[in-house]
Amino acid sequence: MAVGIFDSGLGGLTVYDAVARDMPEVPFVYLGDNAHTPYGVRDADDIFQLTCAGVERLWAEGCDLVVLACNTASAVALKRMQETWVPKDKRVLGVFVPLIEALTERQWGDNSPPREVAVKHVALFATPATVASRAFQRELAFRAIGVDVEAQPCGGVVDAIEEGDEILAEALVKSHVEALKRRMPHPQAAMLGCTHYPLMQRVFQEALGPAVKVYSQADLVAPSLRDYLTRRPEFLGPGTASKLLTTGDPARVSSKATQFLRRQIRFEAA
Ligand code: DGL
Repeated sequence: MAVGIFDSGLGGLTVYDAVARDMPEVPFVYLGDNAHTPYGVRDADDIFQLTCAGVERLWAEGCDLVVLACNTASAVALKRMQETWVPKDKRVLGVFVPLIEALTERQWGDNSPPREVAVKHVALFATPATVASRAFQRELAFRAIGVDVEAQPCGGVVDAIEEGDEILAEALVKSHVEALKRRMPHPQAAMLGCTHYPLMQRVFQEALGPAVKVYSQADLVAPSLRDYLTRRPEFLGPGTASKLLTTGDPARVSSKATQFLRRQIRFEAA
């Protein structure tokens, strides 16, 4: 009864960690496409092809349901995958919607018309491809009115994390927050719209200040997934083993993952 979790690299581990803790009875198979990371600077066709290949690999592990723990893939490729590619007996879900539902204080699957929400000024930090897709603004417009969104493409942060360069990642986060604040001096909330960024959450929070509420998918996806699996248990696939797979070098990826999550992580070759 396994579930697949996919990301371009290490970032989805923040989601994997949270869902595995929340549902210890479910085997999760993680696939990081570290050989092709980062996705955030690639074009839409490229992201679509790579994401489909990763999802197929997880289907082969007995995961009928795959969560794209990658905003770039969710924002750029998911709709096209669902409309043209995913067979009826499989499901692929993204991590974008739970984030927006948390901001707009909606329940999973609430399809009522958009309404006023408490938060009016929102900062979005994401990869260049996610920002360019405008998927966040589109999904938000279905649920809320009168929200001003300022999006900051955070070039370089994913590369620095994948390289294990925490000092560079920290410096880049600070400069991206400064750039955002020049355009929106007082955001009320900040959305970390890339699953790599929770690894730098402390730095985002410090740079934004204590008054800004920082939303991170690591905390938000687990309850949504649990709710989904309660309603659709048939999508718990036939796989039985939890494992972490990478298209990159398993020894190198294991060591970076261990450094960032601060506990022993062991990847196998995909
Ligand atoms: N962690 C991913 C995301 O949430 C992908 C980042 C990348 O590969 O550029 O967007």
